[in-house]
Amino acid sequence: MARVVVVGSINMDLVTETDTFPRLGETLFGKRFAQYPGGKGANQAVAAARLGAEVTMIGCVGADAFGDAMKAMLVNEGVDTRWVSTGREATGIAAITLSAGDNAIVVVPGANHELSPADVDRAEQAFHDADVVLAQLEVPLATVRHAARVAHAYGKPFFLNPAPAVALPDELLELTTLLTPNEHELATALQTHGADWKAVLQRMPGRIAMTHGKDGAYYTTDDGDLQHQPGFAVQAVDTTGAGDTFNGALAAFWHLGVAEAMRRANAAGALSVTRAGAQGGMPTLSELERFLTNP
Ligand code: RIB
Ligand code: NA
Repeated sequence: MARVVVVGSINMDLVTETDTFPRLGETLFGKRFAQYPGGKGANQAVAAARLGAEVTMIGCVGADAFGDAMKAMLVNEGVDTRWVSTGREATGIAAITLSAGDNAIVVVPGANHELSPADVDRAEQAFHDADVVLAQLEVPLATVRHAARVAHAYGKPFFLNPAPAVALPDELLELTTLLTPNEHELATALQTHGADWKAVLQRMPGRIAMTHGKDGAYYTTDDGDLQHQPGFAVQAVDTTGAGDTFNGALAAFWHLGVAEAMRRANAAGALSVTRAGAQGGMPTLSELERFLTNP
């Protein structure tokens, strides 16, 4: 069983479904509203936990109903929440509009932005015990960088899902064992807009796994050979959190070797889109194994 530490965001997703996206100044009737647990950090933690990993979450929620609900949800998924602190600001939310298979998202980080390097230090034992440390960019960059330093100090692989996209500081990039962007995040993270992404991947052999939607994922071996792990065809209901599922699964299965971890992460990501909510379709280990024998 892999031990995974996730340093990241915890949000409540407030999801409306509409026939069309509202235009500026327009009021529309929506078809449905639902509240789902979300946040890239929490999503990745839950994805890994459902697949059998022992997961510790380092994050920050507000002293409010969403914060309580999110912590209870994480506990219910078997995630260790000892290092989820309570900030002064409100729990993060994501206002998500779904329409005709697309989504538009506004994230208000709230308490997520209070997650500090000191919070990381408090959880040092978890880094010591970890097999993989996983982070994203919905918490302060200084905190992510600190987590990368601590992971490095303990000799632990540090996976960075550079989402939402920002240009990455050199030190953070150097401390990252595996970067897991999509195509757009790759160009922004490395400032390689206009360059061929295949060439960019080959420039960092063995250090990038790029998701490419339905097409699956690409990565390079340590020798710089480009590998494609094809996607699995599924009926998509809600693609929110597919990348998070991929990341959580990749960390959970990393010990199986890159090719098998990628195959399983792809399958988990595919299954995740078949149900509503970021965490809705995230498979358990037995669901994943069933799917892999009969996709
Ligand atoms: O990656 C999906 C997540 O991004 C959602 O759950 C939402 O909370 C946003 O942070
Ligand atoms: Na889903």
